[in-house]
Amino acid sequence: MNRRKLVAANWKMNGSRALADTLLGGLREQLAGLDASVEVAIIPPAVLLADVSKQVVGTSFAVGAQNLSQWRAGAYTGEVSGDMLKDAGCQYVLVGHSERRQLFAESDEVVAAKVQQALQAGLSPILCVGETLDEREAGKAEAVVVSQVRAALESVAVADMLRVVVAYEPVWAIGTGKTATAEDAQRIHAVIRETLAGMGADANLIVLLYGGSVKPDNAAELFAQPDIDGGLIGGASLDANDFSRICQSFTD
Ligand code: PGA
Repeated sequence: MNRRKLVAANWKMNGSRALADTLLGGLREQLAGLDASVEVAIIPPAVLLADVSKQVVGTSFAVGAQNLSQWRAGAYTGEVSGDMLKDAGCQYVLVGHSERRQLFAESDEVVAAKVQQALQAGLSPILCVGETLDEREAGKAEAVVVSQVRAALESVAVADMLRVVVAYEPVWAIGTGKTATAEDAQRIHAVIRETLAGMGADANLIVLLYGGSVKPDNAAELFAQPDIDGGLIGGASLDANDFSRICQSFTD
């Protein structure tokens, strides 16, 4: 299947203008010869978006934001809208990252509203889903992931589904050094693709990412799985060498 490949760098609440300079300088150099079928997205904190957008001019890197408001505009102090992100040069926006769900109490309803806002602004939402350790140990991993996907995308028009990227990030694997085995991640990705197909989407064309402690030494095995089209990278995206090696881990 000829889906595009995507590796996204989620800097989380890390970095500065100086770090953005150094990191992007390194990535421009190290990824100059990257296969054109692999798209790279840089997802810095919101205040660095304008800087990063300027720095990627002339490169093939896309830019994304880590969050957006569930509302379009108005009296929502402290919020940043999808339209503003688009205006700042973003193509992507993360929606429903587990840190937002857990630390900022983002419910499935809020996540669904954010997906809608992203789409109406012309952004591609990267919808993050994943089970906690308790849910996994209770044998509920698949059910949790399926229900998160359905809840977030149930009101998305079938044609717009192609603009959505889904990232499977088991919560217990994020920032812990524990990764799902490639087989296990593949199994859940296949379930996600079936779920999208069941919702009427042209699921074979939808890009699915794996996230959770992806490093240079485990990326190749994960990316070789038939339903894993790339990665959402946290910690390792703050190091130009590591992130470049991850982007170069596709074998076909
Ligand atoms: P990690 O984070 O690579 O540091 O585990 C992934 C993520 O949260 O997107």
